[in-house]
Amino acid sequence: MSVYHEPVLLKESIDFLVTDLSGTYVDATFGGGGHTRELLSRLNPDAHVIALDVDQNSHRIAEELSASDRRLSFVRNNFSSLPEILREQNIKSISGSLFDLGVSSYQIDNEAGFSYRRDERLDMRLDKRLEVSAYEIVNSYSSDELADIFTKYGEEPRSRALARTIVKERGIKKVETTARLADIVGRVCGKSVKALSRIFQALRIEVNKELDSLSEGLDAAVNFTSRGGRVTVISYHSLEDRIVKDKFKYEAATCVCPPEAIICTCGKTARVKILTRKPILPGEDEVRRNRRARSAKLRVAEKIV
Ligand SMILES: C[S@@+](CC[C@H](N)C(=O)[O-])C[C@H]1O[C@@H](n2cnc3c(N)ncnc32)[C@H](O)[C@@H]1O
Repeated sequence: MSVYHEPVLLKESIDFLVTDLSGTYVDATFGGGGHTRELLSRLNPDAHVIALDVDQNSHRIAEELSASDRRLSFVRNNFSSLPEILREQNIKSISGSLFDLGVSSYQIDNEAGFSYRRDERLDMRLDKRLEVSAYEIVNSYSSDELADIFTKYGEEPRSRALARTIVKERGIKKVETTARLADIVGRVCGKSVKALSRIFQALRIEVNKELDSLSEGLDAAVNFTSRGGRVTVISYHSLEDRIVKDKFKYEAATCVCPPEAIICTCGKTARVKILTRKPILPGEDEVRRNRRARSAKLRVAEKIV
């Protein structure tokens, strides 16, 4: 049987994350639980790990694990709801959090409509309880809305032409499958894997509101982390990495007045110290072993107040 998901930058991320052996930690993206297992293996019997994921299979795996390890509790919810989740559990602060973004290998290889490599109904929902899937987006968004998604999240130079062609094609027959969408992308943007990846990624980001969730999840993580604790993030594409980098930079800044200001009037203070001036990348061995690691970037910030 293939592995559910091979955890990326496992040792590096958990080395950064653990600062208190009896602390309360959040694994915001449980997946197959690789990072959570490593984290639990390092912590004391009185520690607590709250794991989140929107995926139903992650829920099943986490329930099995928590049955044998009472330090783990799992909530099937979006990490953008972290403040409510912690409040419900009466948790006022955490010792650290890990966000290992994107999708697991299992989701890409087995779940409906994520990959252009298999012909399936368009879907791309990480959380199958969401009402809007890629099918609804492709078949109901206006041409301008589609073009904006392809430009903003896919950086696709032929966004407008692609959106117009999709609208024309769906007027003849609904675009129901990944293969039909891949065929249209191939005709308009060229048959390269890069173009297909860009468009499929853009739709996935829109379906799951991935960038909005990330901003909200990071805000909550910084707010709830106690002094000395760390926010640890592994991202897989430049749009995610930009959000993480900018958020850490903002939180580490002591002034955000416009550059022309003569004296500082913003009153801003730094809340974090950035521990990774340059992101940490997987070594050659890891990339050779696990292709999914090739685009990973790890950034870590420590709460200082
Ligand atoms: C790369 S995998 C995590 C793998 C995990 N670290 C492991 O070792 O198995 C990313 C996971 O995050 C979940 N996910 C993505 N966005 C999410 C969000 N906004 N809230 C909760 N879970 C999310 C996905 O469903 C997926 O299972």
